[in-house]
Amino acid sequence: MYWEAIADLLHHPRVVETRHHMHHSVPKHDHLLRSVHFSYYLAPFFGADQVTCARAALLHDLDSRYGTLTTHGAIAARIAAELGEPEAVSAAIISHMYPFGPRPTTREGWVLAVADKLASLADLGAFVGGLLSGRSLRVRRQLCQSDPFYAARYARRRHRRLISALWRRLGRSGLTRQRILSSETSQ
Ligand SMILES: [Fe+2]
Ligand SMILES: [Fe+2]
Repeated sequence: MYWEAIADLLHHPRVVETRHHMHHSVPKHDHLLRSVHFSYYLAPFFGADQVTCARAALLHDLDSRYGTLTTHGAIAARIAAELGEPEAVSAAIISHMYPFGPRPTTREGWVLAVADKLASLADLGAFVGGLLSGRSLRVRRQLCQSDPFYAARYARRRHRRLISALWRRLGRSGLTRQRILSSETSQ
């Protein structure tokens, strides 16, 4: 089993915080663990090292929101190096978005590139599976608020909706009056 291979990383704050981050509309932590699962079991078929694959999979999307489709692998690879992971782990991470990013140069890199795609499909399956019960949308709403990256966007969108609703209801003169009233009451 792969838990031993990643036990220390599972408690690292950079990994723990992904429980509250959104990725493919599900918790990023779920995506990372699915990637670990697929990587670990695919590794023997590629002649790759299972421990390297599992550790690379757990870290492969850290801070992915700060990069693009093609560059976020390099961001996560740098974080892995900063956490003290060996070069083989970073090398696997950097190419996990292939064919949208660089081509894998190691067996572990190929494993992760395939495992990430399978994990993404599994994420989608889990999201669609939870739509009927309402769980998926409930979790998504929670993530929108708990993920600092999306929380700011969410707040801006809510503010815009509120303004346009007021605009529709009150019109320009009413909206100005409302602003004056709310600024007076806040003083
Ligand atoms: Fe990624
Ligand atoms: Fe991923």
